[in-house]
Amino acid sequence: MDYSPLRALVANSPLAALQPLLTSEFLDTLRHGDFQRWRRLIDAMPGITPSSYSAADQICVGSTDDADNASLTELENCLRELIPWRKGPFSLFGIDIDSEWRSQIKWDRLLPYLSPLQGKTVLDVGSGNGYHCFRMQAEGARLVIGVDSHLPYIGQFWAIKHYLPELPVYVLPVSLEQWPGDEPAFDTVFSMGVLYHSRAPMEHLLQIKRLLRPDGELILESIVVPGDRGYSLTPKDRYARMGNVWFVPSVATMVGWLERCGYINIRVVDESVTTETEQRKTPWMPYDSLDDSLDSDNKSLTIEGYPAPRRAIVIANTPSA
Ligand SMILES: C[S@@+](CC[C@H](N)C(=O)[O-])C[C@H]1O[C@@H](n2cnc3c(N)ncnc32)[C@H](O)[C@@H]1O
Repeated sequence: MDYSPLRALVANSPLAALQPLLTSEFLDTLRHGDFQRWRRLIDAMPGITPSSYSAADQICVGSTDDADNASLTELENCLRELIPWRKGPFSLFGIDIDSEWRSQIKWDRLLPYLSPLQGKTVLDVGSGNGYHCFRMQAEGARLVIGVDSHLPYIGQFWAIKHYLPELPVYVLPVSLEQWPGDEPAFDTVFSMGVLYHSRAPMEHLLQIKRLLRPDGELILESIVVPGDRGYSLTPKDRYARMGNVWFVPSVATMVGWLERCGYINIRVVDESVTTETEQRKTPWMPYDSLDDSLDSDNKSLTIEGYPAPRRAIVIANTPSA
């Protein structure tokens, strides 16, 4: 896990405050049962040079012909150590990682509405293992930085990135709240699947606004519930088995929060019910999934009796300077 190319890239730029987070000393401080073991595992992954790279529906690095059988077996064992793979799909030298989420479906929903990413500096808040970051770079972004505080996803990101050292895509093991400083460094910020995990959703939107340049673009994606402007659901305990859900807004409330935070040009571009085509159990994520979160007699409700997950994408801009 080597962030030194990014450290060099951000020197003397509005992102220079990131530098202390891009060191092995910072990684040494991260405490999660397995993180330091994964770090050693990934740093010791077999050295294979990929003959190809593409980031379409599946993020595809190299082919089976690039490595001998012993290296491929060693690599597959490493990748299986990192189960569960929730976001994807990926293919690494012919090893197909069929993740819980077919993340390309969300990407396909938003892509028609996205301003071109060519040459842009992009932040993906709550990027998971970085699947969408690779898609953003493939659209021409100059630099894509993801942040995610869940360390297993950082391990997965580096399992892929290990073979793409030159690619200007990085996922950092920090939460948005740990972001150093308030420099408006980004042209585009994505916050997808994060808002309802925040105890302070408007502070989340305000912090992103501070990090966006004038005329910047926010792509905000969230689970939503039916309801008027002002309504949001605070689950009594869990929502769809998740214990860390605080506010699930209605679409009108999401728009209202964005307005209140000073965003302009706010448009709701998509609303979709989450189905088992998009989220399901696979050999690479063999635990409970969407099906286990829904009422088996009435799939329009979660097992806790709340409206089943339905997601909205809202795009908004920061005002001009
Ligand atoms: C539902 S997943 C969404 C992943 C991806 N953005 C997508 O749309 O498929 C939410 C992710 O956000 C991360 N997350 C939640 N709150 C965060 C925060 N405050 N800062 C950074 N990451 C956060 C979680 O660890 C998790 O990986």
